[in-house]
Amino acid sequence: MAVLKIEKLGSSVLRRKADEIEEIDPELRELIADMFDTMYEAEGVGLAGPQIGVSRRVVVIDVNNPDHPRMALINPRIVDSDSRTAKEEEGCLSIPGVSAFVKRPEEVEVEAIDESGRPVRVRAGGLLGRCLQHEIDHLNGVLFIDYLSPLKRSMVLKKYRQMQAEEEAEAREKSRDRSREGSKEGGQNSSTRRGR
Ligand code: NI
Repeated sequence: MAVLKIEKLGSSVLRRKADEIEEIDPELRELIADMFDTMYEAEGVGLAGPQIGVSRRVVVIDVNNPDHPRMALINPRIVDSDSRTAKEEEGCLSIPGVSAFVKRPEEVEVEAIDESGRPVRVRAGGLLGRCLQHEIDHLNGVLFIDYLSPLKRSMVLKKYRQMQAEEEAEAREKSRDRSREGSKEGGQNSSTRRGR
């Protein structure tokens, strides 16, 4: 069990079509356990293989609804889509901090294989239906920003880049503080560090 690094926008693995999984082995089960850990740690409702740098067709989903227990889906594919659409707000752990309204089929039916190798069929709308579509998109190198108009997309990306720049500046500041503390520790009594 481990929390894995989540790939962010710009990482090429997010744009690659992921490979079909041929065999369900202990290594895959461990990967799925790690994906659940990573998703919960990041407070997400879904995570796909490419998001943790693994270009294989596996997703984990937990929409936090007692009617829909958490699920790991192997080689999932959409076999039926509602002609009605719904527009709801969406975000992505690979593009943290921003969200946008995305229009998608209201309900989809998905076929997949579960962790024990059994075929599963899920038909869902609402958050689960949206999540299924978003995660399966990841397996095809598609991100939610791809559905936005050019203008909306550039606004979302601008905000994202600003937030990333701010975060990086903050991280640099912190590491400067740490190195200052480090040099202080070398020369002075460590009690002088208190209260910083
Ligand atoms: Ni996502």
